[in-house]
Amino acid sequence: MDKFLIKGGARLKGEVRVSGAKNAVLPIMAASLLVEGEVRLLNVPDVMDVFTMAELLRLLGAKVERLEKGVWTLDTSDLTSSTAPYEIVRKMRASIYVLGPLLARMGKASVSLPGGCAFGPRPVDFHISGLEAMGASIKLEHGYINAKVKKLKGVEIAFDRKSVGATAHLLMTATFAEGETLIANAAKEPEIVALADFLKLCGADIEGEGTDEIIVRGGKALRSPGEYRIIPDRIEAGTYAVAAFMTGGEVRIREACLDHIRTVIDRLRQAGATVEEEDRTITVSNGGKILPLTIHTSPYPGFPTDMQAQFMAMLTVADGTSIIKEGIYPDRFRHAFELQRMGADIKVEGDTAVIKGVKHLTGAPVMASDLRASAALVLAGLIARGETLIDRIYHLDRGYEDFEKKLSSLGADIRRIQD
Ligand code: EPZ
Repeated sequence: MDKFLIKGGARLKGEVRVSGAKNAVLPIMAASLLVEGEVRLLNVPDVMDVFTMAELLRLLGAKVERLEKGVWTLDTSDLTSSTAPYEIVRKMRASIYVLGPLLARMGKASVSLPGGCAFGPRPVDFHISGLEAMGASIKLEHGYINAKVKKLKGVEIAFDRKSVGATAHLLMTATFAEGETLIANAAKEPEIVALADFLKLCGADIEGEGTDEIIVRGGKALRSPGEYRIIPDRIEAGTYAVAAFMTGGEVRIREACLDHIRTVIDRLRQAGATVEEEDRTITVSNGGKILPLTIHTSPYPGFPTDMQAQFMAMLTVADGTSIIKEGIYPDRFRHAFELQRMGADIKVEGDTAVIKGVKHLTGAPVMASDLRASAALVLAGLIARGETLIDRIYHLDRGYEDFEKKLSSLGADIRRIQD
């Protein structure tokens, strides 16, 4: 397994371009199952999850091609299978997005249950109950979700709590259901709005995306919009902003969508960073000390859980004590135990971590556990004294395009060691 070897101490300087958003392109690729004709996607990031979704769609019979960096075409006219196997689903939970579209297209589907991940159980009960409400009959057998339906019908669905995946999954499926679907307590993430934009360009009748209530009037066939550009990755942008600040450097982050990272920018400023904004670029530099913060992750537009680990890495050397409360995934603190090995002073109690700033971190061999935890360990390695060896960086390759190349171009001393 590949590793990263990082020598700490460099102040990041220069310019980096944000890639397309992994969490926007995955549902849109799955939604292409509902669209007649060839779909061309632009600004698609070269990350493992995109290749995995492409592999899954090909298994179903779709033609999926990477024409050049950033440009992919998908044509799902001829589907030959309605099964998403465990080998693929276990690599990428977003595979579940194909369940609804397969039901809509073929009247049946068999999709492996995704299972848990490094930060606890990741249930899919909202996905299943939403499809059942639309008329699907669903059985869970031998680790698979086996579903069938004569005709999907529009319904009213209200989630107990905000779910990005269930909102995306049921939103795209509802475009095929006869009649009106109301999704109450819908997720408001930019990736949901992007999915709705894509579906509306294909002719879907959707309103309310980005608010708590989405209405879909389904039943019309969806035609390809020709091409669609994937929105910038707000978590990647936030990750480089934190890296710039905590290394005491100055970095211009281009092609970001500033409205999507408003909370992250505000918290960085509270921590003492200087953040200049101009059109689609932010320049992050270090005003001096890192000030402690109290953070509570919550659904968009709150502080994103996907930025929690990166902020924790930064706060390990803040001038005081910080508190992080995980409002989305209470167990999402695996990175804390690896940061402790680098000298961080972190106490985790249930859904809350208390981080007492220390003078500096020291390099150590550490283990990546999930995508954002891995990013946090890289950031910590950038400021640690000495060398940090990060194992299992395949987690990073799932969601950060050219991570070590971009960091090296900013002056980081980071090398990929192929095992
Ligand atoms: C999406 O995951 C993102 N993944 C995650 O990003 C992100 O952390 C998460 O949303 C929260 O923002 C993709 O978009 C591919 P949820 P998802 O459904 O959809 C509970 C990354 O690093 N829940 O919004 O799986 C769930 O347990 C990844 O890019 C149910 O109880 O998250 C959690 O506590 C990591 N039942 C809460 O809702 C369900 O059926 C929010 O989960 C579904 C979810």
